[in-house]
Amino acid sequence: MKKNSPVSRSGRFAGGPAADVARFTESISFDWRLWRQDILGSMAHAAMLKKIGVLTDAEEKAIVRGLDAIGREISAGNFQWKPELEDVHMNIEAELTRRTPAGAKLHTGRSRNDQVALDIRLWLRDEIVALDDELMSLQRALVELGEKYRDVLLPGYTHLQRAQPVYLAHHLLAYVEMLERDSERLADCFSRVNVCPLGSGAIAGSTLPLDREFVAKLLGFLDQNGKPRVTQNSMDAVSDRDFAVEFCAAAALLAVHLSRLAEDLILWASSEFNFIKIADAYTTGSSLMPQKKNPDIAELTRGKTGRVVGNLVALLTLLKGLPMTYNRDLQEDKERLFDSADTARASVRLMAAMLRHTTVNERVCAVAAGDAALLATDLADYLVRKGMPFRHAHHAVGGAVALAEKLGKPLNELTTAELKSVNPEFDADARSVFDLKKAMARRKGTGMPGTKEVARQLARWRKKLGA
Ligand code: ARG
Repeated sequence: MKKNSPVSRSGRFAGGPAADVARFTESISFDWRLWRQDILGSMAHAAMLKKIGVLTDAEEKAIVRGLDAIGREISAGNFQWKPELEDVHMNIEAELTRRTPAGAKLHTGRSRNDQVALDIRLWLRDEIVALDDELMSLQRALVELGEKYRDVLLPGYTHLQRAQPVYLAHHLLAYVEMLERDSERLADCFSRVNVCPLGSGAIAGSTLPLDREFVAKLLGFLDQNGKPRVTQNSMDAVSDRDFAVEFCAAAALLAVHLSRLAEDLILWASSEFNFIKIADAYTTGSSLMPQKKNPDIAELTRGKTGRVVGNLVALLTLLKGLPMTYNRDLQEDKERLFDSADTARASVRLMAAMLRHTTVNERVCAVAAGDAALLATDLADYLVRKGMPFRHAHHAVGGAVALAEKLGKPLNELTTAELKSVNPEFDADARSVFDLKKAMARRKGTGMPGTKEVARQLARWRKKLGA
């Protein structure tokens, strides 16, 4: 075999690939990061080969020792990756075989097709756990900010127009709910990632008596009862990337949630709103305008949503129309998957850090929340409590709002006589509606922004998140 020729070309090929072919087809430049999983998978495979008598005890030990040493070298940055060996799988196997003759037996009953599927699954399992941890930390940061400013009220907006007053905590907890659904989606995705494909070979398994369940057990592919989970169709197992699509879909929706949070924070940090102040360390300056303090973390989080959504579309497009089973196209899955995982995780982490360095301008919020118009619906409810049909009450309050506008004063400053001129059902007690504290106390139902309910929700999340 020629020196620069990978083992996959041994025997049948007269020589190595042309230089630009090697460059076009290599994946080592990005799949090297699967080295830990590749080694772990190989060790489990070797243990199984020993169990079924393909490897002697000494051979297996030599393989494990060799893989261990290679792993330590990679970890220390001393391993020489060879692009001509295409990918992480062949780089490690070739180096192992160079060191120990037993290495030549390692690939028994295995193909890179089931090997790469295994490596990605192992890698994604860890990623999901890590991302979920970060998600929880972001949820905690939101809850802590809500707790710290638990009395702060804000206008809630629909159509970006002031609608009704809400506690800041209620607004923040909306994102905690969204992130909780993201976390549930990740957990659901995990259950389908956590299935062992090894033993599927290139497409059709093996004639050797491979013990797939043994390998699955060693690698922790277990169900809730501790029973091994292995893929049930070898053709599906080597061509399936649904689990990667599912992860990218969950990451895309998470990114969309982060983008919406980012947008709220960007608005709130603007002079126009001025509801929050982001600490200097988490903002950037302008190269031209000395007065600028820009919310770049939030903007980049919003911006990076584009690539996370793009990665999902790229993966779906990659899979569409692929004939069974493994096709080299599938090598294109990794960069998209890695990028979604990296981007989602970094965005979640930075958003949490930024929130921990954000203060709320309570005075400005109080002025905004004090806008009496926010309680126009409460005034309609007042009439409803007196027995008026809501549609009539809506009309009457609409008239009161128009009158206040005409007289150039806020809604809560209309006199009883002025209110009565609009509708005789208004009495002297109508204006008590504008007591914001009482107004917030009235919103009692589950999920409403009432004083007690928001406190209950904060307590529920604190307990759930251990915050
Ligand atoms: N580098 C390849 C990938 O990422 C590994 C599997 C290659 N299999 C093959 N038959 N060429 O998909």
